[in-house]
Amino acid sequence: MTARLIDGKAVAAAERQKCRERVEALKREQGVTPGLAVIMVGSNPASAVYVRNKMRACEDVGIRSERFLLPETSTEDDVIRLIERLKADPDVDGILVQLPLPKHYNIERVLGTIPAEKDVDGFHLYNVGGLVVGGTVFPPCTPYGVMRLLEHEGISVIGRNAVVVGASNIVGKPMALMLMQHEATVSVCHAKTRDLAQYTVLADILVVAAGCPNLITGPMVRKDAVVIDVGINRLPSGELVGDCDFEGVSKRASFITPVPGGVGPMTVTMLLVNTINSAARSAAARDAAGASKSLLGAV
Ligand code: GUN
Repeated sequence: MTARLIDGKAVAAAERQKCRERVEALKREQGVTPGLAVIMVGSNPASAVYVRNKMRACEDVGIRSERFLLPETSTEDDVIRLIERLKADPDVDGILVQLPLPKHYNIERVLGTIPAEKDVDGFHLYNVGGLVVGGTVFPPCTPYGVMRLLEHEGISVIGRNAVVVGASNIVGKPMALMLMQHEATVSVCHAKTRDLAQYTVLADILVVAAGCPNLITGPMVRKDAVVIDVGINRLPSGELVGDCDFEGVSKRASFITPVPGGVGPMTVTMLLVNTINSAARSAAARDAAGASKSLLGAV
């Protein structure tokens, strides 16, 4: 049997249509246009492509976006001053600092300056902590996109064995926490895991985010597993591949995400969802403040 493809491009397109409608409604009913500020330091070519894609996606659904390009020579304090300014700007609903930052930066300090309520990447400690105890304002975009894909395909994770390969702060760790929140039994593996296959063969749901082409081969996958490949690797030939041997794995899995066209389109889409949610929260908070002011006026 060959696995069913999970078409991330199609799911993302449907989600973006919903985003467009929500942005229109916010404009019409509240006079609010959601706004995203994207900060990039230096000129990493991959980051430049990601940033351009994010700006285009915003434009596509009617979100205002502004890019702040800082030279490689900028100091951590320069970036923090910019974030402080954007933090105080009521027209900015989301602030995103594209990673990686220059090596000598203290990333935690920079990301910690973004207030949790404008942290549409979901990297702030408050948002990360919320994944453990509940109450996250914004879930991080890639694992959020994976959960949305599973939901769209009608795949329940409750009580199932989920194995996450890769323990990064951006994908692996929050992915594991989200699966746990949804009552899966979760194992987290990483580059140093001894005999990776002994874990992966147990997975009903296998999420791979290790950044290593062909890490997962067919025999490492349980028959009828759901395989979500988050990897994006450029081979010397120029071909874009995930972390799975697609041919081999798709012969054993029941569902699989392709690369490209699987998780990738969902990541940017969930950034749009978070930004719109942020604008809607701010508008609701302003309305509530206005209502209590007018009540006070009536006393
Ligand atoms: N670099 C690679 N992935 C991401 C992401 O999801 N957000 C940000 N800000 N930077 C990244």
